[in-house]
Amino acid sequence: MAILITGGAGYIGSHICVELIYAGYDIIVVDNLSNSNRESIKRVELITGKEIVFYQIDILSQNDLETVFLENSIEAVIHCAGLKAVGDSVKAPLHYYQNNVTGTIILSKVMKKFNVKKMVFSSSATVYGIPEFVPIRESFLPRPINPYGRSKWMIEEILKDLHLSNNEWSITLLRYFNPIGAHKSGLIGEDPNGIPNNLMPIITQVAAGKLNILQVYGNCYPTVDGTGVRDYIHVADLANGHLKALEKTFNSSGVEVYNLGTGEGYSVLELISAFELATGVRIPYKITQPRPGDVAACYADPAKARQGLGWRAENGIREMCEDAWRWQSNNPDGYLSEEAEIRC
Ligand code: NAD
Ligand code: UD1
Repeated sequence: MAILITGGAGYIGSHICVELIYAGYDIIVVDNLSNSNRESIKRVELITGKEIVFYQIDILSQNDLETVFLENSIEAVIHCAGLKAVGDSVKAPLHYYQNNVTGTIILSKVMKKFNVKKMVFSSSATVYGIPEFVPIRESFLPRPINPYGRSKWMIEEILKDLHLSNNEWSITLLRYFNPIGAHKSGLIGEDPNGIPNNLMPIITQVAAGKLNILQVYGNCYPTVDGTGVRDYIHVADLANGHLKALEKTFNSSGVEVYNLGTGEGYSVLELISAFELATGVRIPYKITQPRPGDVAACYADPAKARQGLGWRAENGIREMCEDAWRWQSNNPDGYLSEEAEIRC
């Protein structure tokens, strides 16, 4: 029996592949490579020494998905495939809803057809929108403020309805906070297309000299130093959260939602300092206007995941910065770089 990982060639999915293989699972990966590279799967094979069954298919194709289920004995699905750029989702909402929501409906239909009723879903803290206060608990009413966030919220609701229709379904909804960092080997990491939107990849590209300067979006928020506060979480800890969630789906039925965050918030300036301290590389920055749609502070109350999944984040901000920098330094052009050496 194997675990299907949709979007397994992506940033988070590739780290989940490593985590599951190390835990002894057989895995199957499907990905249309719309935001990733086949090289990430080769790197996972290099890290783990295990060959991966990979299908380059789109989850919107029911026929292709059925082939995967016919050719493999699948026990559960970790569903990471999705589009994730907030700005793009505002410009092309139908494309986002089609890919994320319709894609999940098609995947769920195929799972139902093949009697696979265990799923771990990549949701996001973005479903909370602008929280009234922090730390954010799972009981807060979701109020997403853009199509990407709404697509995640809609999927959560659809999956809850699926369980209501048949209580054999066992579904875990994981609301990630801000994943950063990379595998310790420096072989897999975040490889954004074009100029990145998120803070850590921008910091590492400034550090590498690929970008000149970091723009800090606003310093007038009601936070420790006026800059935005976020709950950065090491991607390897996030991957471990999926392993715990998967094991939970085997032992229970129902739908549960968990925040995956550290519970600690860092401001933009604090993250810059932590990066400089961890790497010895200076990050030039300038304060600019706030980014529309940004919230002042967003960090998790991770207590439910600790109690329900027996999970907690182990890596601190120093490891997140060191590992993000190792990935960037070893792979200046991401997966298009020359093959890197394993350094662990
Ligand atoms: P990513 O873009 O690196 O990975 C997503 C993968 O899904 C990509 O490899 C892409 O090619 C694939 N994909 C997209 N649509 C597909 C389709 N229709 N069929 C098959 N494959 C498809 O992103 P990531 O950072 O690894 O995120 C993984 C999941 O976690 C996404 O669902 C994302 O929305 C969610 N998430 C990410 C973050 C974050 O900050 N990275 C935060 C919260 C939630
Ligand atoms: C963004 C997404 C959110 C997604 C999350 C994790 C938006 C509006 N929200 O949120 O949906 O779940 O990423 O992928 O895009 N910052 C700068 N300069 C920069 C980039 C960012 O100062 O060049 C600041 C931001 O203002 C914020 C912090 O850094 O305070 C983190 O930004 P980012 O990495 O984009 O994450 P989120 O804002 O949490």
